[in-house]
Parts: sequence; C-alpha cells; structure tokens
Amino acid sequence: MALDLTDAKNRYHHAMSPEDRARLPFYSALLNELEHSDTAVALLALVRVEQRNPMLILAALHLNALRGHPVLAPIYFAARSGSLDDPVVAARRVVAVLEMNPELIQSDLHRSTQTNEPGRSSVLQGVLHEFSRLGYSSIRLVDVGTSAGLNLYLDHYQVRAVDDGNPVTLVCEDMLGVDRSNELPVITERIGIDPSPLSLQNPDDILWLTACIWPEESRRIERFEAITQFSRELPALSVLHGSVLERLDEAIGTPRADVLTVVVNTWVAYYFSGSERERYIERIRNLCRHDNVAWISIEHPLVVTGPTIRTDGVPPRRGASRIVVSLPGRDPAPWGWCHPHGHWLSLDVPKVSGPNA
Ligand SMILES: C[S@@+](CC[C@H](N)C(=O)[O-])C[C@H]1O[C@@H](n2cnc3c(N)ncnc32)[C@H](O)[C@@H]1O
Repeated sequence: MALDLTDAKNRYHHAMSPEDRARLPFYSALLNELEHSDTAVALLALVRVEQRNPMLILAALHLNALRGHPVLAPIYFAARSGSLDDPVVAARRVVAVLEMNPELIQSDLHRSTQTNEPGRSSVLQGVLHEFSRLGYSSIRLVDVGTSAGLNLYLDHYQVRAVDDGNPVTLVCEDMLGVDRSNELPVITERIGIDPSPLSLQNPDDILWLTACIWPEESRRIERFEAITQFSRELPALSVLHGSVLERLDEAIGTPRADVLTVVVNTWVAYYFSGSERERYIERIRNLCRHDNVAWISIEHPLVVTGPTIRTDGVPPRRGASRIVVSLPGRDPAPWGWCHPHGHWLSLDVPKVSGPNA
C-alpha cells in the first residue's frame, strides 16, 4: 500500500485552529515538530483512514506520559501545571523520543480518538430547555458515539456563566436566543451506542480518556477526574456495543407517544464513512418524520450538511460547531451555533410548535 505522506503532513498542519494554537503553546509546538518528523508523518499515514487524525498520535504520546515514561512524564506534567519553560524545546524532546522509539506508540494506534467532552452538555441543556418550553416534559436519550457516556448525564451538571470553582460546573457564555428558565425534561432512559464504549470503572479506559484531553487544558482534566470520582453515584446507562447503523433501531425501540426519544450526536459523524453518514441522516429524517423521535446534531459545519439539510446562517465566531435539530413531524433545521467544547452557545430557534401548541 502506498502511503500518502503529503496528506498525513497536511493533517498535522491543519489539526488545530489558530485560536487554539495561540492558547496552547506546547501542543502547537508539538504539532509543528510532528509535521516535520518523517517518523511521525509515516506513523499517521499508517493509521486506518477513519482514525487518521493527529489527535490520535497526540493522545498516544500523552498516554505514555501518563504511564510514567521518564522523559515524557515530567514534560506533560509541566505542561498541565503551566510551568513549562520553553514549549518548543519540550516539543522537540517529545519528538526525539518518538523518533528513537516509534514502537512506543505503535501498539496504541489501534485505538480511536474518544475524547468525551461533558462541556457539550451545556449546549444540549440549552436545546433541551427549548424542548421543555415546547411541551416535551420527558425524554429517552440516545447518544450516538457515546464514548464513556458523559453527555448522557447532562442533567447532572450545573451550567454557569462564571466559574464557581466547582470542577464539575460547566462554564458557558450564553449569547443570543438562550433561555434556561424552563425545567429540563426528565430523562427516563439513557442509551449509548459506540463501537468501542469506554467505562469509568475501568482504569485503562480512564487513562485513555485522560490522554485524549489536551494537557494544557488542566480544567478539563480536573473536571474529568471529579466526574470519575462520583461516577458510581450516577444513574445506570444502557450501552449498545456497535456502530450507529448496527444499533440505532434497537436503541430507538418502539417509540412511545408519551415520551419523546431524542437521538443525539456530538462530534461523532466526522468518524462515520461517507455512506454511513448519508444513511444515518436519512434514517433519522424518516424516524423524526413519522415517529415521536427528535434529533440533535452538534458537529463541524462541513460534516452534517448536504442538499437535504437547510443550514443557512453565519457562525458568530470562528471554529463554531453547527447545531441542527429535527422535531417530530419536521425536517432538520439549523438551530444555531456553539463552541466545540460548549464554552459558548448562540441559539436561533425557528418558530415551531410542540405538543403544547
Ligand atoms: C470524538 S468522540 C466523541 C464522544 C462524545 N460524543 C462527545 O461528544 O464527547 C467520538 C466517538 O464516536 C465513536 N464512533 C466512531 N465511529 C462510530 C460509529 N460508526 N458509530 C457510532 N459511534 C462511533 C468513537 O468510538 C468515539 O467514542
């Protein structure tokens, strides 16, 4: 198989937005060094296409640091605590370790990028407050690509405009159109679908989920650790092992007239193959059209799109994720924009009616 090394190099180059590069000097320098390392480029080119994402290489390196690698561990620890003297020198040392010993990460490249970001629950809550206003008072939640299921606990996190010091609090700047005054709908069932679901009770899974978080974002790591601490007190999840098309119908079951089934995908459709994405969207459109099923999609604007989904509107900020919603009996429509990790939310809810109307 001929490796597309130019493509792999480009992927490193474009892996992070300019804003994130400015905010995260160590990861920005590391991506630069990886882009110019023949070893790192070849390693990425060898990854199966649906996971050929520089984030997988970054997570595999971070994993080795968390496992206590003598050179990597102190560098990543300093990056996390904000005490790295020179991010460029540190990044060069990391890549020198990789070039000396590429096997270090090779055995972890079968894994998937599974960053599970509970910050997205602030966006899901914002949308579900609107569902509540429309009269949907109880829901079954189906989270496609659930990873460890952290967004199936969306009603267990407080959303605040300002950090209150509690690591579990989600800090979200509400922009236009957001009204959190209605109670959230009651969640009667929490169902996840994932080809490789992770568990907060499994130490290896916890390590991988931590490795997927960028080390300079210490608050995200602290929040993940705090959630892990109280995970045994959280409600039980039903997790279906498999890809979306294999398990969606089972997760939906027989839709109930009295409880709305809400299918959610957040930063997952990127990992579907083109035909899987098309078939998924078609299936969801049909379910919403004919049953008591709704859909909330939060993805990169180029991912969930196409001639059948109206996606007009201009994002209020660079790097925004698009929110697309379909209510029962309706076609998918754009509902606004958000930060990919839920740091801000802007809603533009079309004039629609629910069971209250
Ligand atoms: C980047 S993570 C996002 C996790 C979570 N939705 C979130 O927003 O925090 C992507 C997840 O999608 C899962 N995934 C990848 N391909 C999938 C497929 N074909 N069907 C369902 N899930 C998939 C991966 O295993 C991974 O856990």
